[in-house]
Formats: sequence, structure tokens, C-alpha cells
Amino acid sequence: MRLLFVGDVVGRSGRNVLLEQLPALRARWRIDFVVVNGENAAGGFGITEAIAEEFIDAGADAITLGNHAFDQREALVYIERQPRLIRPANFPRGTPGRGANLIEASNGAKVLVVNMMGRVFMDALDDPFARIDEELSACPLGQACDAAIVDFHAEATSEKQAFGHFVDGRASLVVGTHTHTPSADHRILAGGTAFMSDAGMTGDYDSVIGMDREEPLRRFIRRLPSGRFEPALGAATLSGLAVETAEGGLAVKVAPVRIGGRLAPA
Ligand SMILES: [Fe+2]
Ligand SMILES: [Fe+2]
Repeated sequence: MRLLFVGDVVGRSGRNVLLEQLPALRARWRIDFVVVNGENAAGGFGITEAIAEEFIDAGADAITLGNHAFDQREALVYIERQPRLIRPANFPRGTPGRGANLIEASNGAKVLVVNMMGRVFMDALDDPFARIDEELSACPLGQACDAAIVDFHAEATSEKQAFGHFVDGRASLVVGTHTHTPSADHRILAGGTAFMSDAGMTGDYDSVIGMDREEPLRRFIRRLPSGRFEPALGAATLSGLAVETAEGGLAVKVAPVRIGGRLAPA
């Protein structure tokens, strides 16, 4: 199978490049399944029903989230109706929505999508290592699903790499999100799981992690906030990675994807 993962879509410029590029990419590369992280899609904070439906219409099979999952309160209700929208699995019990789902790909294959959050320099959530064990043993790769994609939304590279090794051999892909900057360590781990510490954001890189740089700079230089964070509106780069899997669901090929905007293309 051919899988595409697209990192955190930030604001209008991020949405534009995704909607422009995704339908053609799907066809040109014969992609079977697409996951998009949408936690910053609505003005940098959360996602709305209208935006999520646009992503799905453009070719996203699943949309993962992160710490900004419910910044737009309508997502709390919408997520209960939309099985393709996945929030972190280690949010407290009783949180609306689901942290994992088995979704049918265009070729009929069954793909497990899991979203999980790290705990280093992040909210004090349930143990992501214990939770991923539960999710993967409930749906073993090559038996209950044809591919398994894990979006590990975390700040610390160490935690992301540890998580990748922990999952290695049990998922097709473990990819980090949240730092909004692509890492260059995409590879296939010893057990056959494709891994990348961070997929990068799909947004304008002439910014501070996707936000117009004025306000972040003001807050670093003087401690007092003096305005709102607004997404940068310049040309965006679609950033993520593509993975090819073999029979059984493990990865045989992984490559970074960067299209448009200010980053070197890949
Ligand atoms: Fe993000
Ligand atoms: Fe985040």
C-alpha cells in the first residue's frame, strides 16, 4: 500500500496548499490512504466541521489532532458524528470522540489510525506507551488491519524516538507531529516500522511555527502579550511523508514530502 501523512495544517495558507495539491498527489502517486493532522487548521487553533469536510472531500481518509483538538468547541460535538476525525487516545476517559479507528481505504484495505500525545513538556495525560499497547494488541497488524498509522503528537524528540522503538514492528508508520518543523531522520526501524520524528507543518514557514512572527517576537522580547497569535498568510509548504508497505503491513520505503512555499522541495 501507499500511504501519505501530512503534518499539522496551519490556517488558511496551509489549507489552501493541501486542497490544491492533495487530489493530484493522490492520483499521481497512486496513494491508497491519506492521514492529515488538522489540529491547527482553523485560524491556527483546532478544526471546524466545514474545514474537516473539505479535507475529506479533497482526499483525506483520516484527520488526526493534538493538544489543540478542541480549541473550536464545535469539534466536541462534530467528532461524535465523524469517524474519520481522531483525537489523542490518551485524553481522559469520557472525552468526546475516539483516539483510534479502523478505516477502509480506497482499495478496500483496513487501516488502523491512532493519535497519541506525548507527556514531556506537554499536558499530564495518561501513559501513551500503555495506551498504544492496548490499541495495537486490539488490532494486530497483518491480522486485524492491513496498515497501521500512528501520529505521536509530542514536543520532545527523545520521547518520540523512544515511542517509535516501542511500537517498531507493530505499525506501518509512527510519525511525530506538533513541533511544526520537519526532521530529516525519516527511516525504517529495525522491526519494519517507518519513522520520522516530526512531519513538519503544512503552513507558511516564513513565520514562528506557522504564526505571523510579530506577536511571538514581541512575547519573547517583552514578556507581556500585546496581541493575538494569527497564522502567517504567505505561501505554504505541504510537509509530510510517504510510505510504501509490503504484504503484512510493514514499511519497505519511506520518503519526505515537501511541496510549495519556502522549504526545499522533496
Ligand atoms: Fe500543531
Ligand atoms: Fe500541537
